Amino acid sequence: MSNKKSLWITRRLSEKTLERAQIDYDCVINFDDQPISQQELAERSSEFDAILPCHSEIFKDDLVRELHPRVKIIANHSVGTDHCDINALKARGITITNTPDVLSDATAEIAFLLMLGAARRAIEGDALVRNGDWDFWSPNFMVGKQVSGARLGIIGMGRVGQVMAKRARGFDMEVHYFNRKRLTKDAEHGAVYHSSLETLLPVSDFLSLHCPATAETIGLMNTENLSKLPDGAILINSARGSLCDENAVLEAIKSGKLSAAGIDCFVNEPGGNSEFAKQNNIFMLPHIGSATTKTRDAMGFRALDNLDAFFDGKLPQDIL
Ligand code: DGY
Repeated sequence: MSNKKSLWITRRLSEKTLERAQIDYDCVINFDDQPISQQELAERSSEFDAILPCHSEIFKDDLVRELHPRVKIIANHSVGTDHCDINALKARGITITNTPDVLSDATAEIAFLLMLGAARRAIEGDALVRNGDWDFWSPNFMVGKQVSGARLGIIGMGRVGQVMAKRARGFDMEVHYFNRKRLTKDAEHGAVYHSSLETLLPVSDFLSLHCPATAETIGLMNTENLSKLPDGAILINSARGSLCDENAVLEAIKSGKLSAAGIDCFVNEPGGNSEFAKQNNIFMLPHIGSATTKTRDAMGFRALDNLDAFFDGKLPQDIL
């Protein structure tokens, strides 16, 4: 009998990740790659010492209570942990880890793509050319909003927020941010700190969300906060759908309060928002911020590093 630990990999991770995992662990891999139900997670948990899930597997309190005592660690393949009830897991003595750092570049890249695409009307332009409907040109045609030199507000100046700010400096943007804690002067690189949204929102021609979804941030971009943005602002969300009240965002788009939005994360995933889909000034992607080959490998390896440390009796670097 193998003395390797038994590991449940709940989604089809990158080839390199699966290759490495199978060297060190007795793996059950969900090659079908369909999300696993809460019921199945609970029922099969007695077969595993560890589970390596993605944000698509939901570990809320009711499931956590049903997990078999054999499960010692949930090593997430995600930086976000809003799919997990961390307190409930800790109360059961289950270690929980995530994969920060390694996806910051890729996620900031998507946020920048959303910002440029929304500002320069990429969806409308692409559709015109693609559908053969482009039969007119004028200096008044498809005029968008310039990113270079504009003011960018960032909510959540963690790792992704800081990479976003760095990229924005390359576009000569004036960076403003709100964060629970002010960064050091060195780390700010000239960005202007706001201790509240009251002062950040009115100077955000572009507003990019980079904070986690927590009890404090869920529904943060509601009617009241959206109304504090400059008229014609552009909202970018590459963090979590639940940060936005989607009805309020839709109203702000329809009224022109927001001239456009770039959205990679939705309240309903997979699927998105069918009302957003009717607005050609909302540039949308299907939650692919970290979806590059390099980053998927790095996320998988980071999750495995955390598992290896745990089973070697060390403290995993990303323990929550
Ligand atoms: C994350 O890591 O949280 C991304 O949203 C992908 O799961």
